[in-house]
Amino acid sequence: MVAAPEMPKTNVPGTADMDWENLGFEYRDVNSHVKFTFKNGAWDEGEMVKDPYVKVHIANTALHYGQSVFEGLKAFHGKDGSVKLFRPDENAKRIRASAERILMEPPPADLFIKACKMAVKANMEYVPPYGSEGALYLRPLLFGTGARIGLQPSDEYTLLVMAIPVGNYYKGGFKPTTAVVIEDYDRAAPKGVGAVKVAGNYAADMMPNMLAKQAGYPIGLYLDAKTNTLVEEFSTSNFFAVTEDNKFVTPDSPAVLPSITNKSLMQLAEDEGMVVEHRPVPFDEVSSFKEVAACGTAVVMTTIKQIVKGGEIISINGGSDETGPVCQALYDRVRGVQAGELEDKFGWMMPV
Ligand SMILES: Cc1ncc(COP(=O)(O)O)c(C=O)c1O
Repeated sequence: MVAAPEMPKTNVPGTADMDWENLGFEYRDVNSHVKFTFKNGAWDEGEMVKDPYVKVHIANTALHYGQSVFEGLKAFHGKDGSVKLFRPDENAKRIRASAERILMEPPPADLFIKACKMAVKANMEYVPPYGSEGALYLRPLLFGTGARIGLQPSDEYTLLVMAIPVGNYYKGGFKPTTAVVIEDYDRAAPKGVGAVKVAGNYAADMMPNMLAKQAGYPIGLYLDAKTNTLVEEFSTSNFFAVTEDNKFVTPDSPAVLPSITNKSLMQLAEDEGMVVEHRPVPFDEVSSFKEVAACGTAVVMTTIKQIVKGGEIISINGGSDETGPVCQALYDRVRGVQAGELEDKFGWMMPV
């Protein structure tokens, strides 16, 4: 934990005492977080809370039964000086879907977006300045806080929104990496909860993820749990590929989390004139792809040069160490829109 220095609030992005060029992706104390409570059938007005510790009932349903869902999104300081959130309406929809799937109270979309804006406004000096390539990462967290001991949903929920300044992972340009297919574990069952962002999915992934890293692979790829023949997604990011005939392909599966980054890339690919195929992707097809990448909010995309499965190495585009032109162009467009350097053609950026 890195404690933030006490300092006067300025409300100006980039004025906190931070090493903006070397933020990385780690927890940091900031001014405060947002807290909304659902109790007696209604959401309260919400408040800013300074104390990063949360006091909860010993019998809360989040810790006992996993009634906990979360989101991840970013606010950017743009070229024109304004601070905007990237597609918070999409995160609002997704947290509602996650909550509904495990019988939690879904926060209304406008309440969720208001909470995100409050978190940014209260921590404005922690928004990394334009040019540093960083962002203010928001982590909305919704969990059951009512006391229950038999298995049943809580009647009380807490929605928190944490804000953390994070850096750009790819300051020096991005190089493709090697992924490994996780063969000994499944991430999510077809009729399970893989398509929503429930905390338990990440507990399930911790061991396989760690084993992949220990074996020297920075990123693990899951196949479908039922047949083990279809590509699903990486631990915390979606899979997409570019075919030899320049189509954008990404798996359609009931167990994959619908990534907002992927949705945006599909829209941009279409806008670039590419055919977009959202369909089952047999693993056997992977060797024919000319570009492969993982995509998600944290880094937009990680390009992949090789995928290892058992003893076999599948090379993408001959295992080239250069990021392919389609991935590079799509990455540049997303980052350009986020930084306010390119036209926000689809209205993705929301002022706080
Ligand atoms: C399992 C999983 N898939 C995909 C993603 C990427 O989603 P997004 O682009 O909305 O960040 C994430 C991260 O949120 C994730 O945890």
